Amino acid sequence: MSGQTSHPAQETKRGRASILLALAEEHVRSSFTLALQDYGGGVVAETCSDSSSAVARAIECRPDVVLVGAELQPSDGFTTVQEITSRVPGVSALLVMKDPAPGDYRRALQAGARDMLAIPVEKKDLFAALDAAITVSTAKRSALEDITARAQQAPERQTARKIVVFSTKGGTGKTFLATNLAAGLARAGKRVALIDLDLQFGDVSLALGMVPDRTLFDLVQSYGQFDVALMREFMLTHAASGLQILPAPLFPEQGDQITPDDIQAILDVVQLGYDYVVVDTPPFFEERILVALDWADDVILVGSMDLPTLKNIKLSYSTMDLMAYPAEKLHVVVNRADSRVGLELRDVENHLGRKVWHSISSSVDVPRALNAGESILLSKAGSRVAKELLGLVALVEQGSGANNNGQGRPQGRFRRRATNDG
Ligand SMILES: Nc1ncnc2c1ncn2[C@@H]1O[C@H](COP(=O)(O)OP(=O)(O)OP(=O)(O)O)[C@@H](O)[C@H]1O
Ligand SMILES: [Mg+2]
Repeated sequence: MSGQTSHPAQETKRGRASILLALAEEHVRSSFTLALQDYGGGVVAETCSDSSSAVARAIECRPDVVLVGAELQPSDGFTTVQEITSRVPGVSALLVMKDPAPGDYRRALQAGARDMLAIPVEKKDLFAALDAAITVSTAKRSALEDITARAQQAPERQTARKIVVFSTKGGTGKTFLATNLAAGLARAGKRVALIDLDLQFGDVSLALGMVPDRTLFDLVQSYGQFDVALMREFMLTHAASGLQILPAPLFPEQGDQITPDDIQAILDVVQLGYDYVVVDTPPFFEERILVALDWADDVILVGSMDLPTLKNIKLSYSTMDLMAYPAEKLHVVVNRADSRVGLELRDVENHLGRKVWHSISSSVDVPRALNAGESILLSKAGSRVAKELLGLVALVEQGSGANNNGQGRPQGRFRRRATNDG
């Protein structure tokens, strides 16, 4: 341990935290134990020196945080982290190692660690990592304590209207439309959840001026099962509208770990607690997005006034035809519809052979609002774009999508085929 930074004790935050130190080398154990004496008053730290006792102690004592050395034996630290995080609900794991090689950080995250620290660790870095780990673990634990009681109460029966905003072309305005549609519905008094399924580069929270400390990754990491109330512990509330957001993972490596089953579980649960669920997506088809598209009542295909994008929309239609989606489930919304590029909306409709559901103009206020982390629908309420967005909100409220009672639902036909073929 290096550095003499003294850290102010935060009794309320750290008072009940318990930490298990699983470190093979005696002198490393002692230096961490010593450092922890400066970390808040009520921290209970326990040590062990091999992977078997680390797993056993973690299961028995359910610490808030395990700090695991990469050099543990007989199983190494990565395997130990994996085993502990999969067997101890709500625990946060930190991996520590000397001279990490490129790729070790990614391996640590993939094993389920929240963070990795390189030895020697500065006290301030150790304490900051512990603070973050304990915050997440405390939230997970308190939510978990309620879950059994809630499971015995009457199940939540309401089913939301489910809207996925999609386009196979990047930068068409999916995030702009998804955030404003969700904020508009929420502002109208509806209970709305916005899920960021752009699992690699999601920027929904940024677009609404928020910084997440917990994400979809943290939700799925420790829970095989969860309910709406637990999910809400991982969501941000957008103060201006009341909208609740489940942010995308903070790092692409975390996004990689989310499985189609995780997405199915999240979507199945979130629909029970809201009037509307809006989903933002990345600009491509993949298994996890197909889960969302199957699940949706309405898919908004975002287009713009250029032939490559229109070609992409046509291809998306063909793909969705393969999935046997009812026609009324799919809606084309043309963004930046007033761009002077020699195409009119009727040309777009002729090209697609379908009606355009709605269109939104181009305005410099849109990037300005995004950069300011504001919903333009709220921050520039009188503007043309805001009024057009309200028109979209009204269309969604009229509910012209496919019914979600299950009839005719293709049950992931494309996905099964993709999987079988793949
Ligand atoms: N109607 C509009 N007028 C002007 N600029 C717009 C409009 N719609 C979107 N933009 C701008 O285009 C850019 C891309 O928008 P956005 O991030 O919503 O696209 P996206 O489809 O989510 O992109 P990605 O595929 O990368 O996720 C942003 O800078 C945004 O401000
Ligand atoms: Mg986007």
